[in-house]
Formats: sequence, C-alpha cells, structure tokens
Amino acid sequence: MGQLYERAEIYDLIESEQRTASIRKDWEMFLGERPIKTFLDVSIGTGGMTLPLQELGMELFGSDLSEAMLARCREKALAKQKPFELQCSDFRDLSCWGDRQFDCVASTGNALGYVPHEDVLKTLEEMDAHVKPGGYLCFDSRNWEKIQREKQRFYLYNPFFHGETRVNLVQVWDHNPDGSLVFNLLYSFEQDNRIVQKEIFEEHYHPFPLSLVEKKLKALGYSPMEWQPLPCFSQERDFDKVDWYRVIAQKQ
Ligand SMILES: C[S@@+](CC[C@H](N)C(=O)[O-])C[C@H]1O[C@@H](n2cnc3c(N)ncnc32)[C@H](O)[C@@H]1O
Repeated sequence: MGQLYERAEIYDLIESEQRTASIRKDWEMFLGERPIKTFLDVSIGTGGMTLPLQELGMELFGSDLSEAMLARCREKALAKQKPFELQCSDFRDLSCWGDRQFDCVASTGNALGYVPHEDVLKTLEEMDAHVKPGGYLCFDSRNWEKIQREKQRFYLYNPFFHGETRVNLVQVWDHNPDGSLVFNLLYSFEQDNRIVQKEIFEEHYHPFPLSLVEKKLKALGYSPMEWQPLPCFSQERDFDKVDWYRVIAQKQ
C-alpha cells in the first residue's frame, strides 16, 4: 500500500481556490487580535493550510516528517516568491529548531493522531519548548470521539478536476479492536467515463480524546485554553457535533 505523503502531487489535488480562500478566512478569524507574527507549523506538509498565513503577514517556519511534502511546500512558496525555512523532522523531536521560540507553534492537518497517546504528550512538550512566553500552542484534529461514537466508516469528497481528468476520492475507515483506526484512501481518475488510474493509500491513526491534551496543556502552564470548530466561522458550538476542531492555548 502506498504512502500518500510520498505522493505530494496527489495529496495536493484537493487544493482549490475556494478551499484556500476558506482556509485564509479561518486563519484571519483565528488571528483576530492575537499578536502573532512568527508561526511554526510542525506538520506543515505541502503547506496547504499554512501558506495562506503568509498573505496575512505572518513569518512562517515549518517542519514535517516527509521530504516529498516539504519539497512541494518549498516549490509553492518559491512560486509565490515567499521562500521560508523548512526542516525535515519528526514532531516528537523538534531539536532541529534549536532554542528558537515563536509566537505560535502549531500542528496542522490532523497530524497528532498519527502517533500513540504517550507520543502526543511528548510532542506537546516539544512544541511547548518553542513557544515564547505569552505565545500560543495550537493544533487541529478530527473529532475522534465523535468518529468512534458513531463508528463512521465512509467519508466522501465531492469530485474535483485536474485538467480534463475527473478525480474521485473516497475514504473508508477501519475501526480496529484496539481502538486504532486505518483510513483507506481510494482515488480514481476518470477520462471519458473510464477509470484510467487508481491510487490507494493507507493511514494509521491513534484517536485521542480532547481531555488528554487539555490535561497536558494545563500541566505545562497553558491558560486560557479553548477549542473552536474548524473552520472557526462554522456555527456549530456543540463539541459532540463538530467533525473537526482546533485547540488554542496560551502560554503564561
Ligand atoms: C494530513 S497531512 C497535513 C499536511 C498540512 N498540514 C496540510 O494541512 O495540508 C499530515 C502531515 O503530517 C505529517 N506527519 C505525520 N507524522 C508526522 C510526525 N511524526 N512528525 C512530523 N510530521 C508528521 C505528514 O508527513 C503529513 O505531511
């Protein structure tokens, strides 16, 4: 089974002007009055969620486990004539950033769930080490509690076009007895009503409850701490009903 993050060009097929505009609007509301100028994303990938922050005046820094995702992020930033520093690194060890600290250290794109619970806690410690006093730690996540309660299995995307090719993406989620989840991503590429290419990827997740990170961030001295739906302009405020959320915590 292929690794999606080795195929950054396929990962990026979901990008569109509409999606980027929605991400930019979400960040704009997230920033609000917060005095954030420097922003490190420790799971930046190809930058789909993070690059729009440049347009909002942010100085970006990024790291990720996948060289292929970083290479594409680098290309996209260069194309906009806004290159910035990128490092290849597991977020469980952020020593690549030395003793540098940032106004906000984030993990975007539902990435914390890739690692077991004890490693989520370790990652929060690593991120914390790079947050300036008074700065922010934030991450976004699927609502694993809702997914596990509902035993949701199928997640369908609207078809999108890549040139003349129509791309369909379906996710099938396997709920394992040990509580872990496997996302099977099935891409089919259609031309003239025929499937001309298929790509299948697997992703393994360790769902974690919000309470796990709330407790850790409190112990690390973060307050206030809030969750908001992602995107934050969504009207839903009942945690049990949101599909995706973001946690923002301020370091004292
Ligand atoms: C769903 S992608 C999100 C990418 C990007 N943030 C975005 O929103 O487009 C998840 C990213 O997490 C990265 N990742 C997974 N495990 C990681 C780890 N242990 N340390 C750092 N990055 C990791 C993957 O390489 C991938 O780029």
